[in-house]
Amino acid sequence: MDSIVVTGNGPLHGSIPIAGAKNACLTLMPATLLSDEPLTLTNAPRLSDIKTMTALLQSLGAEVSDLADGTVLAMSSHALDNHTAHYDIVRKMRASILVLGPLLARTGQAVVSLPGGCAIGARPVDLHLRALESMGADLDLRDGYVHASAPQGLKGGIVDFPLVSVGATENALMAATLAKGTSVIKNAAREPEIVDLAHCLRKMGAQIEGEGTAEITVQGVDRLHGATHPVVTDRIELGTYMLAPAIAGGEVELLGGRLDLVGAFVEKLDAAGVDVTETATGLVVKPRNGRVKSVDVTTEPFPGFPTDLQAQMMALMCTADGVAHLHENIFENRFMHAPELTRMGAQIEVQGGMAKVTGVARLKGAPVMATDLRASVSLILAGLAAEGETRVGRVYHLDRGYEHVVRKLSSVGAKIERVKDA
Ligand code: UD1
Repeated sequence: MDSIVVTGNGPLHGSIPIAGAKNACLTLMPATLLSDEPLTLTNAPRLSDIKTMTALLQSLGAEVSDLADGTVLAMSSHALDNHTAHYDIVRKMRASILVLGPLLARTGQAVVSLPGGCAIGARPVDLHLRALESMGADLDLRDGYVHASAPQGLKGGIVDFPLVSVGATENALMAATLAKGTSVIKNAAREPEIVDLAHCLRKMGAQIEGEGTAEITVQGVDRLHGATHPVVTDRIELGTYMLAPAIAGGEVELLGGRLDLVGAFVEKLDAAGVDVTETATGLVVKPRNGRVKSVDVTTEPFPGFPTDLQAQMMALMCTADGVAHLHENIFENRFMHAPELTRMGAQIEVQGGMAKVTGVARLKGAPVMATDLRASVSLILAGLAAEGETRVGRVYHLDRGYEHVVRKLSSVGAKIERVKDA
């Protein structure tokens, strides 16, 4: 197994290109199941989660090839010959559940293992299932699998979510494109990844209105056709690298960055004393003079502060001036990075869904263990400004969601390398 070794090395200068969004790509890829014509995605990120989704789609009979060094995914589902998504693949990645809606809508049947994924709470899939039931699917849970059928096809329905779910909205949206009649998705997630999915589905011939708002209306069509679509910029990778100069000092431009993707996050950076400026090519981040100030943060569905940036923001707050309260509202067990940051000298008290972070002048490098994707990158960020060497273990979590992290951070002057564990 590999580790990443970071040594605090002073201010960072230069630019970092931001990749296409992992979470958008993971919902755009299953959209290929909706059509017998090719779907090509450009600006795809090169990540192990994408390889997992590739293997899952191939296991269903789809053709998936990566071109242009992995940044283009050419897919075709003209000959689907299997409707079972097996546990062996699904357990590696929770987003596998996103094949359920499109597979059912296109073929009238789908059997999908209940997913595993990051260990950040219970993360049930009841909302995905309720949405499909509202469109007339028959569902049965047996032996750890969801058995779904709709022999006469799905029917348009009202899907009224009791809470906002990104994945359930995506499954419902994809399924509704081929359902007979009109579907209305209420209390829909408004994340940029949903908007990107709707744009792609529209290119494929879907009739969708209201994406990016809490109510999406879909007029079902008989069939969808092929399309080519660029994956939207990864706002979480963007926010993560915006924190690098905020923590280590300096001035870094994030190429491809857009303010509309990270509004709530930028408001918090501004309050903490970090300037963010939009340019023609991206976002420039530069902390103002003096120590960053503590700010309170509450995670919420988009357009609120994203849960996927909570761990990284905590890394910034560890050395901020004052006391910060970080409230985690989306997942109930998402502070696993706190004890690891504490090993580096941070002062953090976790009380239920809230972490109280009292800023210290400087962190000290230590061997730490990554426990999930965003936690692992938060430890790297903390290491950028820590005194001495931080060794982050279990980096396979990182490979799920960040491409070329060592190359990207070295290019702006960080002292960081990937090493093989003895
Ligand atoms: C997606 C993102 C993930 C991000 C999360 C919240 C992908 C691949 N992953 O995950 O990175 O952290 O959105 O922004 O896009 N819930 C239920 N029942 C369900 C579904 C969800 O109770 O059927 C709950 C979850 O446990 C959680 C909340 O709803 O507490 C929000 O989860 P959801 O938005 O569904 O997250 P994901 O789509 O899994």
